[in-house]
Amino acid sequence: MRRVTLTQYLLEQQRDAGTIPADLRLLIEVVARACKVISNAVSKGALGGVLGGAGTDNVQGEAQKKLDVLSNEILIEANEWGGHLAAMASEEMEGPHQIPHRYPRGEYLLLFDPLDGSSNIDVNVSIGTIFSVLRAPEGDAVADEKAFLQPGRAQVAAGFAVYGPTTILVLTVGNGTVGFTLDRELGSFIMTAPDIRIPADTAEFAINMSNMRNWGEPVKRYIDECLAGKAGPRGKDFNMRWVASMVADVYRILSRGGVFMYPADAKHKEGRLRLMYEANPMALVVEQAGGAATNGRQRILDIQPTTLHQRVGVILGSKNEVERATSYHSAGG
Ligand code: AHG
Ligand code: MN
Ligand code: MN
Repeated sequence: MRRVTLTQYLLEQQRDAGTIPADLRLLIEVVARACKVISNAVSKGALGGVLGGAGTDNVQGEAQKKLDVLSNEILIEANEWGGHLAAMASEEMEGPHQIPHRYPRGEYLLLFDPLDGSSNIDVNVSIGTIFSVLRAPEGDAVADEKAFLQPGRAQVAAGFAVYGPTTILVLTVGNGTVGFTLDRELGSFIMTAPDIRIPADTAEFAINMSNMRNWGEPVKRYIDECLAGKAGPRGKDFNMRWVASMVADVYRILSRGGVFMYPADAKHKEGRLRLMYEANPMALVVEQAGGAATNGRQRILDIQPTTLHQRVGVILGSKNEVERATSYHSAGG
């Protein structure tokens, strides 16, 4: 069997498919390299002194874990000097990080959730990194927050890594969704899922049920109907999974289908997940794999962002289920 590395895949995309220019290819390689470094740190766990809290809060008032801070530093350090970026933005930084003047400035903007699934770090459950690449608006001397406020459909690349039993990289450059597994001996990502397709139908949902009392009617209705099983209106039994790491829940959906929901509710009025570095990259990956992603009323990728850290309700995964849950919203319950 021919083993295709990430480098080969990206070169093919550049040369043959013409989907990415050379500087975007190099940018993606650098992000992937940073994910390998994070993967290494994650796998050392307590032996590497990386578990536990950092003793600081991020801009959203969430207590940072050591690995949140470390992963953020790894991504910045790896991406600063390559000359491909105008600026970076992260869950862990209040505003955009400008490329220092000593390095050349490039055409792209990189956004990331350096460590997704923070609550799972210390309990040895899968966590990951999510990233999104936009083009910097032309002519702007400084890539400020405004430069980043582009709808998700403008992303030129997006993906995520999962640090689980194996380290996985999922990527889209707008030409389908592909998956790679890290070969630790070689230190390279090897393509193991050349054309990920999410089945349109599913009998598995993912939602944090502890929020049930806060849900709106459309979400209640959708989940109630799933729970009613064979005897209910859906006529089939549903299974439930909730890892509480979006990367792991989305990877499962890419592997075998399913629907993932973190809707806006009475407690999370704007939703819980962040639009620009969680929902948008995941929505592109999922759409490119034949799935769908909405906030209940609108396609995620069409939302015009107004702030860097804004939150959004998320319903994504198997197309027919996302469409059903979305239609319950427009039906007004
Ligand atoms: P982060 O660790 O980057 O803050 O993101 C965690 C997110 C997401 O990965 C997951 O789906 C969700 O938060 C879990 O939320 P609950 O703890 O409310 O289940
Ligand atoms: Mn996250
Ligand atoms: Mn995070």
